[in-house]
Amino acid sequence: MTAHLGPAGEGAARVEIPGQLLERARTATRVCILSGAGMSAESGIPTFRDVQVGLWERFDPMELATPEAWRADPEQAWAWYAWRASLVSGAQPNAGHLALARWQQRDGVELTIVTQNVDDLHERAGAQVLAHLHGSLYALRCSECEAPSGAAYPQVDEPVAHLDPPACEECGGAVRPGVVWFGEALPEGAFYDAVEAAQQAELVLVVGTSGLVHPAATLPYLAAAAGAHVVEINPRESEVSETAHEVWRATAAQALPALVDALG
Ligand code: APR
Repeated sequence: MTAHLGPAGEGAARVEIPGQLLERARTATRVCILSGAGMSAESGIPTFRDVQVGLWERFDPMELATPEAWRADPEQAWAWYAWRASLVSGAQPNAGHLALARWQQRDGVELTIVTQNVDDLHERAGAQVLAHLHGSLYALRCSECEAPSGAAYPQVDEPVAHLDPPACEECGGAVRPGVVWFGEALPEGAFYDAVEAAQQAELVLVVGTSGLVHPAATLPYLAAAAGAHVVEINPRESEVSETAHEVWRATAAQALPALVDALG
């Protein structure tokens, strides 16, 4: 099936919806979306393993996003997250986020969203997120006493190398982002909820993730083993591709509106 992208008519791009997907999407009563950084790429948020921009070209996010990096240089880590938060707050949900929100509002389907993204673009599109597996940029807390913090990121218009993190209102410790760093535990209950949603779904769409970071990367396998039809939406091959029953080589903002429009 060929669907129009954007306004139909001359010049409108077209995307092919792969074989079984449309029928499965029309009949499934439980759909689970597993989204990663590629979901937000067309909102202007750089992914992790694609190009890093500006100052951060020199840094490997795998090295920055660790408790060790925070302890060694909290000002550098805070500056990186302040820049990411500024990018996110200046960004808008893209057509893919908006399409998922529309799908979630349809009668007769329970659509759950499990994301590795720490941005709030699904929510700002009007969708509900079941699990933010890697936490949220905005759930700031104290790095010492763990108390939630009412502090906010400074607005930074371009990446800077160092910024002082705010002090905790309770104990004076440095306030840190509410994201999950490598080696840290996932938010309580988030992975359990994600496994349950992936295993109960008849259709699972894996959108914009490299499938390299565990335990999130196990979800497509668990879904397939439980009998779900698993479809990857990603312009490039990834670790998910082999597990998926179908792959759709398109971007999130191309594929998802085309699919949701075609549901009728
Ligand atoms: N639409 C769909 N997919 C896209 C798009 C797009 N417009 N642009 C890029 N992609 C794909 C890339 O091909 C890649 O496979 O998105 C994927 C992004 O991969 P990563 O940058 O590795 O992001 P992700 O899988 O979410 O990373 C997992 O790693 O650093 C940590 O905690 C961080 O949550 C993150 C985790």
